[in-house]
Amino acid sequence: MINDKLKIEMQNEIATMKQSGLFKTEKTIQGRPGTEIKVDGKKLINLCANNYLGISQQKKVIKAAQKALKEYSLGLNSVRFIVGTTDLHKKLESAISKFFGTEDTILYTSCFDANTGLFEVLLAEGDAIFSDELNHASIIDGVRLCKAERFRFAHNNMEELEKQLIEAKGARRRLVVTDGVFSMDGEIAKLDEIKALCDKHDAILVVDDSHGTGVLGKTGRGSIEEKGILGKLDILTSTFGKALGGAGGGFTTGKKEVVDLLRQRSRTYLFSNSLMPAIAGAALYVIEHFNKEFLPLKNKLTENTVYFRTKLEKLGYTLGGGSHAITPIMTMDEPKTMALADELLKEGLYVRGFAYPVVPKGKGRIRVQISAAHTKKQLDKAIVALEKAGKKLQII
Ligand SMILES: Cc1ncc(COP(=O)(O)O)c(C=O)c1O
Repeated sequence: MINDKLKIEMQNEIATMKQSGLFKTEKTIQGRPGTEIKVDGKKLINLCANNYLGISQQKKVIKAAQKALKEYSLGLNSVRFIVGTTDLHKKLESAISKFFGTEDTILYTSCFDANTGLFEVLLAEGDAIFSDELNHASIIDGVRLCKAERFRFAHNNMEELEKQLIEAKGARRRLVVTDGVFSMDGEIAKLDEIKALCDKHDAILVVDDSHGTGVLGKTGRGSIEEKGILGKLDILTSTFGKALGGAGGGFTTGKKEVVDLLRQRSRTYLFSNSLMPAIAGAALYVIEHFNKEFLPLKNKLTENTVYFRTKLEKLGYTLGGGSHAITPIMTMDEPKTMALADELLKEGLYVRGFAYPVVPKGKGRIRVQISAAHTKKQLDKAIVALEKAGKKLQII
C-alpha cells in the first residue's frame, strides 16, 4: 500500500533528483510539430527532433496514415498471435525486407521493444553477449533480460572487444551488439571492424540503426551501408520514430530463422498489441517511396548540416560528431550547458541541454539535430542566437 511513509520516501527521492539537476521537466507542445514548434504557448525553431529528412510533415505520408486509419480502424484489439495480423502489417514487413535486402522482418510497436525482445530469444546460459558501453538503454535492458554471460566493451574499443571474444571462445554462441550511430555524439560505430571481428571469432552481429536508417549511406540504408556491411549483417533493429516518419514503431530484420524464432518466443511481440495500422500505413508509404521521394532529401540534409557546423565552428564553438546531422555543441560544463539551453530558449530556439548521467561527467552539451526541412532563414536565426548566447555566457 502506498501509505504516508512511502509517499514521503518518494517525495524525498524526487527532491534529491531536483537538487542534483537530474529531474526531467517535460515540455507541453501545442498543435502540429515541425521545424517550428509551439512549446508552452511560444513558437520556437525546433532543433531537437529526430526528423532528419522532414518526412513527418509530408502530406502524402499523413494521407497514407489517414487512409489506413479509415480502412483498418484503430487496430485489432489484440496481440498478433491471437486475433491475427492485417495484410498491411505483412506488406510492411515484406517492404522492409526488400528495402534492406534481408530475408524476413518482424514488426514491434517500438525499437525499444525490438531490442528488449531480441537477445533472450537467441541466447541462453552458456552463451556470451558483447555490448558497447555507450549502447542505447533498450539494448542494455535487452541484455539484462537474457541469461548469457555479459561483456561490456569500452566504447568503440576493438582491442577490448577482441580480447573478450577470445576469453569467451568456449561459449556455445557469441553475439556482439552495437548502436550504428551513437545518439549523444552522432558518431558512427566501427561496423566494418566489428564485422571483421565477428567473422574471425564466429560471432553473430546485431546493429541498432535507429539514428542511421534513412540518413546514412548512399541509398539511405544507414550506417551499415556507410560502413560497407549492407547485405552482410546478421540482424538489424531500427525505428520508424525518427527519420522514417516520427510516429513510432520498430522492427527487427535479418535471417529468416531469427525472425521465425522471434515470432514464436519474443515476449515484447507475443504479449503486446501490434503497431497501429495508421502508423503501419505511413511507414509503408515511406519505405515504398523512399528511393524516389525521400532519398533526394538527404542532399539537403547534408547541405544544412555542413552549413550549420561551419558557421558554428567559425564562431568558436567546439562541436562533437562529424558527418551525421546530430550536432553536439560541447560546453563540457554542466551548469553552462543548462544556462546556454535557457538563453537559447529565450532567443526562440528549442534545444535541450544534456548533462550527467545522460552523457559522461564533464561532457555537457547541447545536442542540435538538423533536418532537411530547416530553412536557411531558420538556421541563420539559430546561428545568430547561438552567437549572442555563447558570447554572453563566455563559451565562445
Ligand atoms: C539507438 C536507439 N535505439 C532505440 C531507440 C528507441 O526507439 P523507439 O522510439 O522506436 O522505441 C532509440 C530512441 O531514442 C535509440 O536512439
